[in-house]
Amino acid sequence: MEVLDHKRNKLLIKIDFMVKPIYLDNQATTPIDPEVMDAMLPYFNEKFGNSSSVHHSYGSESNEAVEKARTILASTINAQTREIIFTSGATESINLAIKGVAGNYEQKYHIITQATEHSAVLDTYRAIEKKGWEITILPVKSNGMVEPNLVRDAIQSDTVLVSVMHANNEIGTIQPLKKIGDICKRNKILFFVDACQSFGKLNIDVREMNIDLLAATAHKLYGPKGIGFLYARQTNPRVNLEMQIDGGGHERGFRSGTLPVPLIVGFGKAIDISLKTMKTEYQFLRKLRDLLYDGIVSKHSDIILNGSFENGLPNNLNLCFPELDSETMIMKMKGIACSAGSACSSANLEPSHVIKALGRPNELALSAIRFSLGRFNTEREVETAIKEINRVAETLKLKKIKRKNKKINH
Ligand SMILES: Cc1ncc(COP(=O)(O)O)c(C=O)c1O
Repeated sequence: MEVLDHKRNKLLIKIDFMVKPIYLDNQATTPIDPEVMDAMLPYFNEKFGNSSSVHHSYGSESNEAVEKARTILASTINAQTREIIFTSGATESINLAIKGVAGNYEQKYHIITQATEHSAVLDTYRAIEKKGWEITILPVKSNGMVEPNLVRDAIQSDTVLVSVMHANNEIGTIQPLKKIGDICKRNKILFFVDACQSFGKLNIDVREMNIDLLAATAHKLYGPKGIGFLYARQTNPRVNLEMQIDGGGHERGFRSGTLPVPLIVGFGKAIDISLKTMKTEYQFLRKLRDLLYDGIVSKHSDIILNGSFENGLPNNLNLCFPELDSETMIMKMKGIACSAGSACSSANLEPSHVIKALGRPNELALSAIRFSLGRFNTEREVETAIKEINRVAETLKLKKIKRKNKKINH
């Protein structure tokens, strides 16, 4: 709404009723980078060719764009271009990795994973467990880290796959991939990594870390939704996967379906930008994260950090607010968009399996809130957010005290 002084032709007041909350949910998804958007747009209209139609210029132009994106995505993790299989996102990549490996065996074998994996991973394991596979789920330490020795000790003679994520989506904990990869290599077991939260943010070298399968997605790094990839090692050893989607044999027979060229171009552009900004962005996000933490802890010294600052993503801050309920807090913090647990499970009022895995009791786990920062956040936004978080926590605490006193007086 605008209020004008007509005599002086001057704008007196401008009220934006649609002021959006400050976005602190960048681990759920990120806004698209304008440069990514610009790179994608021509591939929706003038460059619309099917990338498989390489016999004419429309198709070959699209094919060139796809291969350019594939090359930069592969080089980011030190993979070969033919090891990158485009999918609709990480959930599909994860399904292809796990069911694809399992589908190659006539017999049922053993797999090792860990307790704080994303539900896309854990639910896929549950699905193959129903078919007779044995799954060992390792516990984590109180900071969310997997002890590599536990992986080594859990290996059986029939273990064929180990899967451990890189960085956690709720608490940001970064796992010791190199150590786990070495154990897998020594024991000739395939190693699968869900790298959704770290791809383009942390260094990954699949050769050095002995990773055989890796899932990533574009929408966590300012790219479009609906595009991801699975890296599947093709030499030393060659990973065989059972195709999960039958059809025209695209992606070297690993995943059929016409490629979404604009999305792939966007994914390529997103990683191109991330590679150029990775170092400075890491420092920037850590500064914002520290500012946010210091601002909250200065007023609420009882908060408990979930995860680890030393071994964590710089953009993640997951806190328990003892005695408060995270759902209520989030609803009251109208000026902030953040989440309790991961977005995929936030419709569910059960405490997060990740926070529970750290050893937190149910009530404390239900007070956990994830603030996740991104490229487009500002210090000013963080300062505003701190005020709102502190105000809401303070009000809810006072209400709780009043309710307790009332009970005592009755
Ligand atoms: C760690 C992790 N794995 C898998 C996924 C699923 O990714 P997608 O949304 O691309 O299917 C997510 C997204 O929330 C995630 O954070």
